[in-house]
Amino acid sequence: MNYVYRKFRSLIYLSINTILLVFAFPFNKKTTINIKNNLKRDEIINFILNKKFTNQGHYLEIGCDLDQTFSKIINKNKIGIDPVRGGNLKLNSKDFFEDYNSQKFDMIFIDGSHLIEDVFYDTVQSISTLNLGGYVLLDDVLPNNYFNTFRKRITLHSFQDAYKILFLLRELKFIKLYLIPSDHGMALFKLIDEPDFEQLKYDFSKISFDNYLELLEDIRFDYINDINELSNIN
Ligand SMILES: C[S@@+](CC[C@H](N)C(=O)[O-])C[C@H]1O[C@@H](n2cnc3c(N)ncnc32)[C@H](O)[C@@H]1O
Repeated sequence: MNYVYRKFRSLIYLSINTILLVFAFPFNKKTTINIKNNLKRDEIINFILNKKFTNQGHYLEIGCDLDQTFSKIINKNKIGIDPVRGGNLKLNSKDFFEDYNSQKFDMIFIDGSHLIEDVFYDTVQSISTLNLGGYVLLDDVLPNNYFNTFRKRITLHSFQDAYKILFLLRELKFIKLYLIPSDHGMALFKLIDEPDFEQLKYDFSKISFDNYLELLEDIRFDYINDINELSNIN
């Protein structure tokens, strides 16, 4: 997708956003979740790679774009995949996992396609290639309004329906899950036990934004709000 097309698309989204803001605003649904900006995605990844793996672990980023994050990762071993631009391998995640990769990782950042079937695929493959004790960070899984969750992008920062992955993640017994309401709204999990692939099934088709609003009320979620809380995770 070339630069001119992306700029043109941004202008279209901006126009749609303005129309939405004026006419559809009363019909939008919002979460009460307060997304702050005190913990950035690159800071989280660098912190974990440094504190848990002394920068010797293996890092994978799925979806790199302009290397906004990838270029900031200070780690000896890093692989960034993107079929369009950025990273160091021009591959989509399917081609990477099925035809290219044979190694295990300690930290994986999932930030490619935000459609739930792709996020699910990337999550399952990440779990399969994660070392025990490794971490996965998912971006854009805490949308704060309904218009940002349409599968067809209509807003400037669309999360599409990536958030649906939370419904599966909270059921998995072999991970420790945290929500991080900062930056774009993230989820972090650690592989604390050998994965049970039988648990990696979910019918996402019936999930709605209203279900997500209810899900956020679930007191079982643990949150990471700042760097101190991040340093306290095991
Ligand atoms: C939101 S951007 C990534 C931003 C970047 N990680 C950052 O931290 O700012 C999403 C990127 O994912 C890429 N992408 C889309 N589908 C993908 C897939 N199946 N596998 C890998 N990358 C994908 C797109 O080309 C796009 O560059």
